[in-house]
Amino acid sequence: MKLYLDTADSVLIQEINKTGLVDGVTTNPTNLAKQGGSPRDVIEKIFTLLPQGTISLEVTEKDPEKIYTQAHALAKLKDSVLVKIPCHSTYYPIIKRLVTDGIRLNITLVFSLAQALWMNKLDVHTISPFVGRLDEIGQDGLAFLADACALRNQYGFKTEVLAASLRTVAQVEQAIRLGVDAITISPKLFRELSAHELTDKGMAQFTADWSSLGSGIRFP
Ligand code: E4P
Repeated sequence: MKLYLDTADSVLIQEINKTGLVDGVTTNPTNLAKQGGSPRDVIEKIFTLLPQGTISLEVTEKDPEKIYTQAHALAKLKDSVLVKIPCHSTYYPIIKRLVTDGIRLNITLVFSLAQALWMNKLDVHTISPFVGRLDEIGQDGLAFLADACALRNQYGFKTEVLAASLRTVAQVEQAIRLGVDAITISPKLFRELSAHELTDKGMAQFTADWSSLGSGIRFP
C-alpha cells in the first residue's frame, strides 16, 4: 500500500521522507500555487527529493486537446509521473486516447460510483475518490470509498484506488481496512497518525524508571 504526501512543500516532503515511508507526492494546482514562484521549479525540487517516488502532476489546461498535449508533456518529465486529470465527461475521449498511448493517469475529483466505474472501464492507472469533500456536502465519503474498492474487487479491474481528501486518523484507518492501493495525506495528518499518547506515556515511564537506578549504570 503506497503512502503519498498531499503537498508540494519541499521542506515538509524532505523532512517526512527521512522516515523511509514516503512513496511519492500528489500535487495539484492548489498546493503548487501555495508554494508561490515557478511551479516547474517546485516540481523539479520534488523530483530531486524523491528520485524513485511516484509524483502526481495535474493538468491545468481546460480544452480537451490541450489537455491531451499537456498530459503527454507532463508524462515526459519523469517515468514515475502519474498525470492527474479531473473526472469530467468532456475529458473521457482524451482519457481513452491517453490510456491507449500508455500514459499513466490518476483521475482526480472522483465523487460517484458511476464515475469510478467509467474510469475502471477506461482502464486508467489510478482513481482518486475524494472522501473529505463528500463529507463536507453531507454525503458519506467513506461509504463511497468502500464502494469504489468493492467495484474494483467485484469485477477484477486493474485500476488502483487512491484514497484522497482524507481529513482524520479514523478515515485513514478505515481506508486501510478497505484495502485501498494508496492513500495521500497532508504532513499534518501524517504526524497525527504517527503519534500515540500511550507511546509518549510509556517512554516517559521507562525513562523515569531507568533514572531511578542512578546515573552510573552502564547498559550493556
Ligand atoms: C489528491 O490528489 C488531492 O489533490 C487531494 O487529496 C485533495 O484534497 P482536499 O480536499 O484536501 O483539497
